[in-house]
Amino acid sequence: MTSTGRDAQPALVGPRVRLRPWRAGDAPAVLAACQDPEIQRWTQVPVPYRAEHAEGFVGDVAPQTWAEGGALFAVEPLDGGDLVGSMGLFPPEHGVAEAGYWTAPAHRGRGLTAEALGVLTDWALAPAGGHRVELHRVELLVDPANTGSRRVAEAAGFTAEGTIRRRFLHRGRPSDVILYARLTGDARGGATGG
Ligand SMILES: CC(C)(COP(=O)(O)OP(=O)(O)OC[C@H]1O[C@@H](n2cnc3c(N)ncnc32)[C@H](O)[C@@H]1OP(=O)(O)O)[C@@H](O)C(=O)NCCC(=O)NCCS
Repeated sequence: MTSTGRDAQPALVGPRVRLRPWRAGDAPAVLAACQDPEIQRWTQVPVPYRAEHAEGFVGDVAPQTWAEGGALFAVEPLDGGDLVGSMGLFPPEHGVAEAGYWTAPAHRGRGLTAEALGVLTDWALAPAGGHRVELHRVELLVDPANTGSRRVAEAAGFTAEGTIRRRFLHRGRPSDVILYARLTGDARGGATGG
């Protein structure tokens, strides 16, 4: 079912990126990006990653996530060009949502992921006019060895609250995670210009 009006997933705009709902036509770009070994190493994408996974992500997973109170966005450059990556919130519980992201290799190292995470989190935690689901906390679970993702979290104003040992089963292996969070009222990250 397509959402309309107040219930439609919005587009969110930062200084350099736009976060917008996924479209069927994004599947080839998702398929290409998700061949990247770093995305396969650090996220839960299926391995091997095939066309049907990309089609299912943009066509089924994304609208279903929105229907369940989460929000998955395609990140694109404001000045035009290829898909930057994926940024989103999984369906929340008790006012808490976990965020997740990946960025295509060609777009890394320019601060675009930190900006997109800041834009997403500002919107998610906005007291009025933000996400239709009221949230008080956005979390990230990051492997301690994933230096890039830790830097992204910190640049977007997230605080490391501690290491949780063997919290996560990653590709069949229990892994530690650093729990990061941003709460309503926390300072915004510099990457969003706030
Ligand atoms: C982690 C990832 C999202 C980073 O994307 P990115 O676009 O390069 O990140 P940004 O350009 O916004 O970088 C933000 C900061 O992190 C730093 N950074 C990014 N990748 C880094 C790396 N591999 N090592 C060290 N620092 C890194 C940048 O220099 C920047 O630092 P600054 O704030 O001091 O300027 C990207 O490498 C990726 O998609 N990895 C695979 C998927 C993944 O790990 N997802 C997260 C799972 S928790």
